Amino acid sequence: MKLSLTTEQFDALRVLLERAAGLVFDEARKESIAYCVSERMRAIGLRDVPSYLARLADPVERQQLLDEVTIQETHFFRNPPQVRALRMHVLPELLRYAEENGRRLRIWSAGCSTGEEAYTVAMLLRELLPSTADWDVKVVATDVSSRAIAAARNGRYGARAVQMASAEELARHFRPAPAGGHEVRPDVRELVEFRHHNLVTEAVPFAPSERIDLILCRNVTIYFGRDTTRALMTRLHHCLRNGGYLFLGHSETLWQVSEDFRLVALGSGDAAAFVYRRLDLPVERRAVLPDRRTIDEGPVPPVRERRHDSRRQVQPAPPTVVVAAATLVEQARAALAAGQYAQAAELAAQATAQAPLAAEAFYLRGLALIDLGRDEDALVELRKAVYLEPERGFAHFLLAGVLDRLGEPLLAAREYGAAADTLGLQPADAAAAELGGRSVRELAALCRQLEHRLVGGQVEEVS
Ligand SMILES: C[S@@+](CC[C@H](N)C(=O)[O-])C[C@H]1O[C@@H](n2cnc3c(N)ncnc32)[C@H](O)[C@@H]1O
Repeated sequence: MKLSLTTEQFDALRVLLERAAGLVFDEARKESIAYCVSERMRAIGLRDVPSYLARLADPVERQQLLDEVTIQETHFFRNPPQVRALRMHVLPELLRYAEENGRRLRIWSAGCSTGEEAYTVAMLLRELLPSTADWDVKVVATDVSSRAIAAARNGRYGARAVQMASAEELARHFRPAPAGGHEVRPDVRELVEFRHHNLVTEAVPFAPSERIDLILCRNVTIYFGRDTTRALMTRLHHCLRNGGYLFLGHSETLWQVSEDFRLVALGSGDAAAFVYRRLDLPVERRAVLPDRRTIDEGPVPPVRERRHDSRRQVQPAPPTVVVAAATLVEQARAALAAGQYAQAAELAAQATAQAPLAAEAFYLRGLALIDLGRDEDALVELRKAVYLEPERGFAHFLLAGVLDRLGEPLLAAREYGAAADTLGLQPADAAAAELGGRSVRELAALCRQLEHRLVGGQVEEVS
């Protein structure tokens, strides 16, 4: 029978999970938390929620619950613009720096889930450095989930985890696992060390004097409150070396969270990725790779007056069509949340076929295509979304990113401007699901900043 939690029970669990790992669960997650609790109660043979809540005084059971509630969604070569930035810019630069500084390189995959992210970085390293004899290279990969760490150490994966790997990458870095699936090759595995670690309640897992060259903390802070993220970013900044890099997920931003880092755009055209750097001192221009644009985070101008274009107002589709399409849209959203991007794109395409005036469906298809690394296809969908609904701020935001990556900075600036205008129309404290619950105002301010940098030519091309 389906377990339901009282408000008090849900609140008690929320407090416990936030204290234990910084995880914030809103009302929308009540059912899924109830499901996790019911799974744990079944596993240990308890039949009532109060007894289970009492059992959570035991750290072993708390860990089990954390294993159950944390979301392990990840895959190899996730976020193609960032993978390109790692391969083309960041890792070659870090290896050059290491070559001159004792051949020592430290990378931290913080919130590594089942290991795909850490192994991906190790694979990219192996391509650049086939032999690490005489080198001290390590990818330290940590996660709060014991179950995820055990799976990561196992190093065996199914087809879904490797769906973004090319045939060449698959052949080079994996071998067939004895029981089916793909096993990471030993030369990659030996670069990675997995450790259980809690980013919120523990100090960073390195000696106080140790400095890290690159931290990937992608799609982890989306589950945290802002204060938790702020405190974590202070710790990450402290252990990163001057010149080191911080990669966050594509929906994560440090706007109004931390001013310690500089936002930089790596690459141009379809290879652009926005990442953060610790830059305490001016870095000599000659030490910086070509094809890099650096953005200073400066003051944000006020949100502009609302622009209104009555010619582009669109009539809603007939209700009978909307009902069926609405279901597909819901399914597409769920597929996106589960990281099933190809399925999300397909569902959204079906929705657009049924309701060709539904901006939401075009927007979701665009989002899924970006996640699949198909910027040019995403461009078409997102343009339709903003044409159909000019006030859809997130669509303008995504479109701007696509245009920028495709080498159209002025068009990108215009879209960032439109994003800032339209997002600014929403209540200041509205939460943006696309931003992991952060405020819409925060995104509007970032968009305005990016618009000014791009249009004002202040996005510096370093050569
Ligand atoms: C969605 S996965 C992201 C995996 C990978 N970084 C990526 O982007 O593909 C989020 C991971 O963060 C981990 N996590 C959540 N809270 C954490 C905490 N307090 N300390 C360490 N890891 C945490 C979860 O267990 C989960 O494996």
